[in-house]
Formats: sequence, C-alpha cells, structure tokens
Amino acid sequence: MAIWRVRDFHDEDLDDLIGLWDDPASGDSDPVFSVSELVAAVRGGDPAVVALVGEEIVGAAVAETDKDRAWLLRLSLAPPWRHRGIGSALLQGLEERLVSAGVQRISCLLSSEAEIGAAALEHQGYRSRPGIVFYEKLESLSSAAHGLLAQLGGRMVRPDAWQTLGGMVREKELIEQRIVLPLAYPDEAERAGLKPPRAVVLFGPPGTGKTTFAKAVASRLAWPFVELFPSRLAGESAAGLAAALREAFAQVSELDRVVLFIDEVEEIAALRGDSALSAAQGVTNEMLKLIPAFRERDGRLLVCATNSVRALDAAFLRHGRFDYVIPVGPPDPAARQAIWERYLESVPHEELDEAAIVERSDMLTPADIEFAARRAAQRVFERSVAGESEARATTGDVLEAIAATRPTLTRQMIEDFEADIDGYARL
Ligand SMILES: Nc1ncnc2c1ncn2[C@@H]1O[C@H](COP(=O)(O)OP(=O)(O)OP(=O)(O)O)[C@@H](O)[C@H]1O
Ligand SMILES: [Mg+2]
Repeated sequence: MAIWRVRDFHDEDLDDLIGLWDDPASGDSDPVFSVSELVAAVRGGDPAVVALVGEEIVGAAVAETDKDRAWLLRLSLAPPWRHRGIGSALLQGLEERLVSAGVQRISCLLSSEAEIGAAALEHQGYRSRPGIVFYEKLESLSSAAHGLLAQLGGRMVRPDAWQTLGGMVREKELIEQRIVLPLAYPDEAERAGLKPPRAVVLFGPPGTGKTTFAKAVASRLAWPFVELFPSRLAGESAAGLAAALREAFAQVSELDRVVLFIDEVEEIAALRGDSALSAAQGVTNEMLKLIPAFRERDGRLLVCATNSVRALDAAFLRHGRFDYVIPVGPPDPAARQAIWERYLESVPHEELDEAAIVERSDMLTPADIEFAARRAAQRVFERSVAGESEARATTGDVLEAIAATRPTLTRQMIEDFEADIDGYARL
C-alpha cells in the first residue's frame, strides 16, 4: 500500500515547498531555475504537484507553460523518499495536468550533476537529447529598461571597474563603507537603522578619478550608469536647461535601479546671487526641487561631481539633499605607486626604480600617470619597430615620460583642495 500520495499544489504548501527547494540534496545541486523562478511559476498559476507522506511534503514537480510547450522547472524529492516511484508519480501527475491544459511537448533542463530527475524522466518516457549545449546570458535589465537606458545614453559598467582603480585606498574604503555596502545590503542597513545614501557629491581637482569612482560604484552594485551632461542638456537658454533636467529626471525615474551621474555640477547648482551666473538661478532651483523626489525611491543613487565645490550653492549641498560630500584628492605616494603598477603592467620593462618614479610624479593625477605610461609604452613601441629585439622600458624612459607630461595639479590647487576639505567635506 502506498503511504504517499500526489495532489495539486495549494498556496499553503509554499513555505514547506521553499524549504524543499532550498535543500540541494532534494534535487539538482546546480539547478537551471532559481527558487524565485519556481515561486513565480506556482504563484502565477502554472501547474504544479506535490507528494505527501501524511501531511508532510516530500516531493514536488513544477512546470511553466508557454502555449503548447511546457518546461519542467524542477523535480524535487526529499532524500529518504527516493527510489520508491514517487518521482515518476509526480511526473505522471504533472503531465496529466499539462496535457489537459493543451501542452504537446514537455522539456526539462538538468545539470550534469543532477541526482534526482534523470531516472524518473527516463522511466516516464522522456528521452535526453545528446549534443545539446545550454547557453545563458544574464541580463540585469528588462528589455524595456534597455531601450530607455539606450535612449538616456546609459549602460552597464564592466564588472571589474572597481578592481582596476589603483591605490586611492582611503577614498575606496570610504566609498565602499558609506555608499556601496549600504546599497548592496539594504536589509542589514535597515536592521542597523541606517538609511542607505541617495545622493552624494564627489569633489576634487581634475583627473583624480571622480568619474571613474562613480562608474565603479555602479559596477559594484551592478546598476546601470547614466550620465547627464549639463553642457549638452543646456540648449540655448537657462529655462531650456531647467526643462531638460526635469525631463531627464522623469525618464530616469522609470528605471528600477540606476546610478545617475552629473559631472561639472557647478554648472547647474552655482551659488545663487552670483551675478555672472544669476541667469542660472532657475536651474539651481529646479535641481533643488528634483532631488527630494529622486531620493524617495529605493534602488537609485545620484552622484554629482565637481572640481569646484566652493562654487556650489550652500542650499544645494546641505544635509537632506546630499548624504555625503566626499573629497577625491591627488594620489599619495602609495596610490601613485599602485597606479603606476597598474599602467606599466602591460608595458615590457626592466627592473624599475619605483621610488624615483613615485617621487618624480608628485604633482601628477591618475589621469596624468595614465598618459605618462602611454608615452613610455610609445617609446618601447618605437624602438621595437626600429628593430630592437625585446625592447623594454627603463627607469630613464619612465622618468623622461614624466618630465614630458604637464602635471594637472598646481600647488594652489592642492592648497584650495585642502581648504575645501575643511570647509565642505562631509563623511
Ligand atoms: N585610481 C586610479 N587608478 C587608475 N586609473 C585611474 C584612477 N583614477 C583615475 N584613473 C584614470 O584617470 C583618468 C581620469 O579619471 P576621471 O575621469 O575619473 O577623473 P575625474 O576626477 O572625473 O576628472 P574631471 O574632474 O576632469 O572630470 C581616467 O582615464 C581613469 O581611468
Ligand atoms: Mg570627471
């Protein structure tokens, strides 16, 4: 006498079923469909059957239908109940329901490690199709969002963007702690009573990596990155710019998740009352109105960058609009060394006097170092084309490249930056 029975899935089964699905021993250890996909299928009313012993659920089969075709998403069986014909009975029960729903073909994807399923499928007359290779592409966006993103000039940032940022340990740590982690772990943040940041300002001299950091944050979060260019939005009048901003924010609000980046934000949030810029006052006011609405929803971060934080309107910067005002400064010696290593990694070179290189690149930004390294690579290339076999960059080549690179930073800029840290930074 069978002590188990098979019946239709009921909504009350869901909790027990999730327990079963979550246990890798009850099915495929490397399943094609995730538990959330299984939940969506049964909630959506697709056919599903469960096997019961007494009131305990010991097995389940779930499918998703698509016209006359169905995919068996998962066949699960608690380990003590294997080899008793329950798997076959589940398949049989599911098949009856699918056929009566008009399905003519039932397919199933199993990983090669699947312990449960293959035998029951064979037994029920399913045949494996040899030579099939399963391709999969993970898209973190719906196609509608893709269209919108393309229209906004946005994109996904390559996954290793954060790792390729050399040095800048202080900035990296700060941005990780304050921005990336609370957004990546919203539940933990909420438990700690921490509201994840919605808007931050990055300030610092040109070429220090503000844009690069903003992209790297998007990459860490796997959120799309959209950049607004005030100079391109502007059109001919300040009124045009305000309207264009409003429109851009409205479009961005349709994305589920986004890092919205505005570079040179002083162009739209300059000090009010500054007569030269007073035409832009309406634009600043518009920005002040847009930020609170932007802050209301989860899954979004506004990053504004500026070389000139002191030119920003004080109301613009205040608490409640921007959670943090973070300096991204010139690289210290350790950062310069890391950045040099990163850019010289792919250039064949002799043993280099790193201390000398780091010292001489004192006033260079990461962007300058990138350019100087390019110059050194160019030298190697020229010698190699001229017939020198195994041409390599020497310390002399690198120092020459440094000497030929005009530094972005000036003493004045560094002084101003330090004063700005005192006056404006909020960490
Ligand atoms: N820490 C870093 N490691 C390696 N490369 C870096 C680093 N920071 C910046 N770079 C490189 O320097 C260049 C300039 O960086 P980025 O555009 O982010 O600077 P920025 O602060 O936004 O400058 P601006 O103020 O001019 O907009 C980029 O090519 C970037 O790849
Ligand atoms: Mg930039």
